[in-house]
Amino acid sequence: MLVEVLAAHLPAYTKMVVTGNRGGLPVPLTLGPSCIARVTDVAPDVFHVAPGDVVVDTSRLDAGDGDEILVGWVGLGGTGTGSERTDRMRTVWRDGVFAERALCAKETLIKLPGAETYPDPARLSFLPWLCIAASGLYAAGPLTGRDVAVIGATGQLGGAAVLVALASGAATVTAVGRNKAALDRLAELGPRVRTHQLTGDRATDAAGIGPVDVALDTLGATPTADATMAAYDSLRRNGALVLVGGVRQTLTIPYGDLMHRRLTLRGSWMSDDQTVTTVWNMIRSGLLDLSAVELLTVGLDDPATALDLAERTTGLAFVALVP
Ligand SMILES: NC(=O)c1ccc[n+]([C@@H]2O[C@H](COP(=O)([O-])OP(=O)(O)OC[C@H]3O[C@@H](n4cnc5c(N)ncnc54)[C@H](OP(=O)(O)O)[C@@H]3O)[C@@H](O)[C@H]2O)c1
Repeated sequence: MLVEVLAAHLPAYTKMVVTGNRGGLPVPLTLGPSCIARVTDVAPDVFHVAPGDVVVDTSRLDAGDGDEILVGWVGLGGTGTGSERTDRMRTVWRDGVFAERALCAKETLIKLPGAETYPDPARLSFLPWLCIAASGLYAAGPLTGRDVAVIGATGQLGGAAVLVALASGAATVTAVGRNKAALDRLAELGPRVRTHQLTGDRATDAAGIGPVDVALDTLGATPTADATMAAYDSLRRNGALVLVGGVRQTLTIPYGDLMHRRLTLRGSWMSDDQTVTTVWNMIRSGLLDLSAVELLTVGLDDPATALDLAERTTGLAFVALVP
């Protein structure tokens, strides 16, 4: 499918991806993991979208049996280590969407009915992050009337998770992070939002976070697993901890504790088509209000400055590339 890129989220850690410490990429390539786009042409065997449709590109290409790639980005599904088959997939589908036009695999594009008239496509480019957060939250089961904590809520994925949890009917959402100013901003979203500023002490943090029914870990790379384990400790009986962040530490889970408290520990990676449709419908209906998110835009002409800006932009703010 050929698309005209309307806007693409520039993740805060894109500079780290470019400098090469977030996993290998087939180079040279055009980066870009997701975008909002208008379809301009389709191959004869494409039936789920047509020229003129507005779509989201999730970049996730799944060959089954654990072989999944993100086109134009780091990160592999399955074991996360890749295979001869993911290498071949990345050779054929190499280029992402930080571009004016892109050629995309049909599996990566999901139609957004009604988005043709959405007034602000740049703002809508936050949708993929909302969907990743939503997939993680929904992996814990229904959220309505439950107490939810988001660990790393001061980041973009965490901020997205707070918005989705509120829109999905959580009784309370505890935003957890280091950055006081970002926590204060989240508190302004409404009376259901509580905040806890991380202290670094596991017991203190667990007491400050919980008790909660669901904890979503959206942290970036941390030197220890203490904040994640504080979230584990904060769970009520039957609670669930879902991991979606960039923490690459080993978690020490006491067997008897997990069993007796009947806890669930889940992982979640990217998002599925159904969740994309659900989150888009929440935005479209006004249930999830994107005006709470601060939008900064950049063009294609000065990549270095754009990456610097993205690195500095987090919390309930993000950078969109509008080519
Ligand atoms: N599972 C998936 O499908 C998926 C998809 C996309 C991204 N991710 C992962 O999600 C992670 C977060 O992405 P993002 O876009 O939200 O990034 P981001 O905006 O940079 O947020 C990073 C978050 O981690 C926190 N953090 C970083 N270092 C910390 C430390 N030493 N101690 C405590 N908190 C720390 C930051 O807190 P401060 O605000 O205090 O700095 C912030 O809340 C990334 O690492 C990425 O790998 C996963």
